[in-house]
Amino acid sequence: MVGTIYKAIRKIILSVQSLGNKIVTFIILKGNNVSFSNFSTNGVPYIMVARGGKMSLANDFSMNNGIKGNPIGCYDKCTFFVDKGAVLHIGEQVGMSQSALICHQSITIGNHVKIGGGVKIYDTDFHSLDPKIRASKEDLKHKVKAPVVIKDHAFIGAFSIILKGVTIGENSVVGAGSVVTKSIPDNQIWAGNPAKFIKEI
Ligand SMILES: CC(C)(COP(=O)(O)OP(=O)(O)OC[C@H]1O[C@@H](n2cnc3c(N)ncnc32)[C@H](O)[C@@H]1OP(=O)(O)O)[C@@H](O)C(=O)NCCC(=O)NCCS
Repeated sequence: MVGTIYKAIRKIILSVQSLGNKIVTFIILKGNNVSFSNFSTNGVPYIMVARGGKMSLANDFSMNNGIKGNPIGCYDKCTFFVDKGAVLHIGEQVGMSQSALICHQSITIGNHVKIGGGVKIYDTDFHSLDPKIRASKEDLKHKVKAPVVIKDHAFIGAFSIILKGVTIGENSVVGAGSVVTKSIPDNQIWAGNPAKFIKEI
């Protein structure tokens, strides 16, 4: 009896929360001039698109922010940062959990891509590799940037890190906890740090 009442109350609270999260996310997307249509969300993401940056989401985007929906990436929110002049595009029917996409130049995610809990995607090193420049105020101007592309139907395992200049091929899979420093051809599984070829699909 107590269990039934608990579950009923929980269901009501969750549906109210869920509606609230959708409304807040809608406002955050609009406030950042993100182009989007229908999306679903558990929780509320962090989104920051700088003036002159562009972010677009195609149909049926879904994300898990926090533990609800997919506990794999634990309590983190999805984080989207798009710098001035940078472009982040996410294709149709893409799903992601507790992931961070930090875009200083260009990140393109194809259609039907699955991005696992806690994945990080960076298209820059964030700092100069020259210690003298890095110690100066010029540091950020000298950071290296290169586009990241994740092609249709790719699957990125939980807690992987995809670094600048990498393309992940169509249908390809990245093993959990990998650090991807080189591009992966279509229809292959790669894993490890640094990620290496494991097998053809
Ligand atoms: C990559 C993956 C799909 C491969 O699965 P599989 O086809 O069953 O592969 P196997 O377990 O047979 O492993 C094949 C080889 O790859 C290695 N390998 C598999 N996953 C690896 C990983 N994440 N990192 C490093 N090496 C890995 C294995 O050790 C094995 O090496 P060996 O041939 O030298 O013994 C799977 O291991 C994986 O990482 N899944 C990710 C799941 C995930 O994160 N989901 C996200 C949900 S939000």
